[in-house]
Amino acid sequence: MSKNKTIWACIDCGHSQLKWSGQCPQCSLWNTLKEEVEVAPSSKRFEAQSIGQNRPVRLKEVSSQVIPRILTKMGECDRLWGGGIVPGSLTLVGGDPGIGKSTLLLQLSNALAQQGLTVLYVCGEESIDQTSMRARRLGIETDNLFLLNETLFSSIKAHIDQIKPQILIIDSIQIVYKGELQSAPGSVTQVRETTTEFMHLAKGQQIATFLIGHVTKSGEIAGPKVLEHLVDTVLYFEGDKQQHYRMIRVVKNRFGPVDEVAVFQMNSQGLQEVPNPSEIFLEERKKEAIGSAIVPTIEGTRPILIEVQALVTDTAFSTPSRRCTGIDQNRLALLLAVLEKRIGYPLHKCDVFVSIAGGMKITEPALDLGVLLAVASSLRNRMLDPDATVIGEVGLGGEVRSVARLESRLKEAVHMGFRRCMIPKYNLKGLSEEIKKKIQLHPVEFVEEAMDIFLR
Ligand code: TYD
Ligand code: MG
Repeated sequence: MSKNKTIWACIDCGHSQLKWSGQCPQCSLWNTLKEEVEVAPSSKRFEAQSIGQNRPVRLKEVSSQVIPRILTKMGECDRLWGGGIVPGSLTLVGGDPGIGKSTLLLQLSNALAQQGLTVLYVCGEESIDQTSMRARRLGIETDNLFLLNETLFSSIKAHIDQIKPQILIIDSIQIVYKGELQSAPGSVTQVRETTTEFMHLAKGQQIATFLIGHVTKSGEIAGPKVLEHLVDTVLYFEGDKQQHYRMIRVVKNRFGPVDEVAVFQMNSQGLQEVPNPSEIFLEERKKEAIGSAIVPTIEGTRPILIEVQALVTDTAFSTPSRRCTGIDQNRLALLLAVLEKRIGYPLHKCDVFVSIAGGMKITEPALDLGVLLAVASSLRNRMLDPDATVIGEVGLGGEVRSVARLESRLKEAVHMGFRRCMIPKYNLKGLSEEIKKKIQLHPVEFVEEAMDIFLR
């Protein structure tokens, strides 16, 4: 008979080891290792493997018929999933508590139930009354949406077998538990095991399943990172609870593109789609501002104009401060070093703050030149031309490197009324004559050339 043994598992990345240590060797976070009981593989699972019900098939024998996707009729959501939801797929929706996960999935449930699909919403965190109150506030009225307040997996499964839903929502995965496991709900073992069970259910019965997962910084429950590899699609909420806008980003998708971003606005009717995000990100921009640059970025398949803001002040300490929100701290440090070395700005004596207005996170390097110009603008107290946008990756030698999909970025800039754009010189030959007529282009090869073009 197999015996369960005690292990230490990281609640952030799921790494497990036999001994406790202060820092997780895999994700380098501190104090994330918690004691758990590891489950020995059950005899049933072992048996299924040795019987071998599945046999290898030739690729050409597999029917090539395209599985029709389920359209949500919520345009932004359909785009996120890469053209609708795949039946039998497993999606993880992660985000900070209170950011709008339950609201989004309740609205999604409604959109799907109204098409005649049977939806089972397992609300383990809130009572049926609370969920139905919220549903009423959102104006949801449908016969096909079932609410279930249950957290024990076997019981949820029994209800699934009875109701036979096409769509299943688990709110949240960290509260569902399997009775036969000794560890507490929300532990790495429970979260992993229950997700695996939901995966078998989703694939076996063709139920499109959505798991809600809270992102935790210091709590006792396992974060959604632990399950990212188990599911087909991973969506994360970005942005701040204090702001009206919520960004949802696809970080993994087995059926479509990643890095696709949908923007929603939270108001009294729940989450409303924002079809043109550039408009809202630039809405509060002060046109004649110092330390601000507009960059057309590409998120997934769509260009979005964002504003980079920088503030450079004299430092009062021996080590200057570098703070940023929305961009990577190391990338900022690198860009400031380039600026100091190539242009000679005395940044070692300055505190530098950089932020992306609106709460969006940008990881693509096409933002580099915009960050440099915003910093230069603040340092020199001169504003950038308010009709201009900036695009370009910056290398360690101060060279401005080409970016992908420049034409669609420029089209978005034209659409938003911008008349000039600084671009990498190497991108110029790939552009159509049509776009060159619509916007005045300033190709640059090195950061030195870039500094004076738009600064006034
Ligand atoms: P919720 O979906 O409960 O967050 P999560 O499931 O991610 O924890 O959303 C919580 C916030 O959304 C809450 O602070 C109230 C706000 N909200 C609105 O502003 N309008 C609405 O119509 C709804 C339903 C919620
Ligand atoms: Mg919730």
